[in-house]
Parts: sequence; structure tokens; C-alpha cells
Amino acid sequence: MSTMVEITLDGESARVPEGSTILDACRRKGIDTPTLCWAENLTPVNVCRVCVVEVEGSRVLVPSCSRNVEEGMVVATDTERVRTSRRMVYELLASSVEMDRATPEVLAWMDHYGARPDRMGDRSEIVTQAQPVKVQDDLYVRDYERCILCYKCVEACGDDAQHTYAIATAGRGFDAHISTEHDVSLPDSACVYCGNCIGVCPTGALMFKTEHDMRDAGTWDESKQSVTTTVCSFCGVGCNLELHVQDERIVKVTSPADHSVTNGHLCIKGRFGWQHAHA
Ligand code: SF4
Ligand code: SF4
Ligand code: FES
Repeated sequence: MSTMVEITLDGESARVPEGSTILDACRRKGIDTPTLCWAENLTPVNVCRVCVVEVEGSRVLVPSCSRNVEEGMVVATDTERVRTSRRMVYELLASSVEMDRATPEVLAWMDHYGARPDRMGDRSEIVTQAQPVKVQDDLYVRDYERCILCYKCVEACGDDAQHTYAIATAGRGFDAHISTEHDVSLPDSACVYCGNCIGVCPTGALMFKTEHDMRDAGTWDESKQSVTTTVCSFCGVGCNLELHVQDERIVKVTSPADHSVTNGHLCIKGRFGWQHAHA
């Protein structure tokens, strides 16, 4: 049995297992908290700071995704200081990268905090990531104009899931970017096209080619999509697949992050091998 720790969370006492993060405690209490670089199936890298909260006695705001609870900790998640800081993170990110294809959750949080990236100045003058989209195969595209360097794709490609290490950060400061080794094209890299990096990208920088093409054509419409969960039939492992279907066509495939077999991660066959279903 785990030892429980008692904390005060938004004025109410809460008992959570020792070793939990503040974010874990918030989730147990039903307190919604925005995240960008955190995912339940990845090790926290603690780089975006959108999840910050106030902790009594701490001079600076602390990232809830990676700070563990301590006995007697007093945490406030919705103060003016927290709201301002979270809004600023969204505004600074969205003033330098395109966020219009971010996940619905990210866009909803930006709206919730009233983020106005235009406050940071003329966007055309301060954009730091402008670059052409990389379309190098028929499976997925990399549009690093939309990349916020959250490192989730690197984690998913590396220690946390795929162990392929096809991508990593390169460069420093404003030149920092996600790259294959020696910036070779994806088909020439170590990439095995599992698509696990797409599955965790919060901004749409990594996207199924199907989705990318439909968005460019103006036909992508999530309100017309259904999601059917099934079991992959390619082998006997038993991975759950979520088939996203629009107009009777599969448009992308994901897997639930809380599924005990996949933890949200798939292989190339489960992720991209659906064409036979349309035959
Ligand atoms: S598709 Fe898989 S192997 Fe290729 S870069 Fe993404 S996570 Fe790595
Ligand atoms: S490509 Fe996506 S997942 Fe990778 S660092 Fe950029 S925003 Fe994060
Ligand atoms: S979600 Fe906590 S630092 Fe990014």
C-alpha cells in the first residue's frame, strides 16, 4: 500500500499517494490543467511551463507536471498570477509559430485564457520558425513552422516508446530545431514510420498526410468524423486502434494512451496500413 501525502489544493485538503506530481493530484481532484510538453505516456521533460501553479513558500511558479507533492504543501491552480503566466506562454508560443492546427485541447485552453499573440507585435516580423513543410513520403508530413520544441516527438521516438532515435534536437537558441541525423530526408533516416511522434505532437507540426492534404483542401471536418475502436488484425499482440472516419474513409489512426498494450503507441502497420479496408 502506498503512503499517502496530505496537501491543500485550491483551498481543499487532498490525500494523494507519495511520489505523485501536483498534476496527478489535480487530475484526481478533477481540476483541469493545461499541458503542452507533458503526456501521460511520456516522461515529463518540463520545458513549456504552461502547467504552472502557485505553491505557498515558493518564490517562483512551479511546473505541476514534474513537481512532486510534499506533505503539507499548499497549492493554488487558478490565481491571477497563474492565469497570467499560462496566457503569456500561449501568447509567446503562438507569436512565433503557427498554432492554428493545434489539438482542440490546446486551442480551447488558448481561448480559455484569452491568449492574444498579436499583443507581441507584428507577427510577420517576429516569426522565428517560418519554413516550407517537409513532404517526403505518402505517410506523414513534418511542418516545423508549427513546432514549439516540446520534445515529445523525440521522447516518443526514443526512450519512452520506439527506441529508434531517428530524430533529436539540433542547433542552439533560435536555431534549435527537431532534425534527423545530418538532416537527411525521413526515408533516408533511421525512421521506421511508426507514427508515434505524430500521436504525441500537440501542435499539428507532425501530421498524417491524409489529414494534411484534407486540411489544405478545406475538407477536414472533425464534426463529421466518427471514431471506432477495434483490435489491429495484423499480428497477435492485440493493439487497440481508433479509426477516425470521415465520409466513409479512414483518415487517420490513433491508439488510446491508457491502453495497457500500446500506451498510445503503434507500429507502421497499425498506424498506416488501412488502405485494404477501402478496396
Ligand atoms: S515515425 Fe516513429 S521512428 Fe519515425 S521519427 Fe516518428 S517516432 Fe521516430
Ligand atoms: S514536432 Fe511536435 S512533438 Fe515534436 S517538438 Fe515540435 S511540437 Fe513537439
Ligand atoms: S506541461 Fe508541464 S512544463 Fe510542459
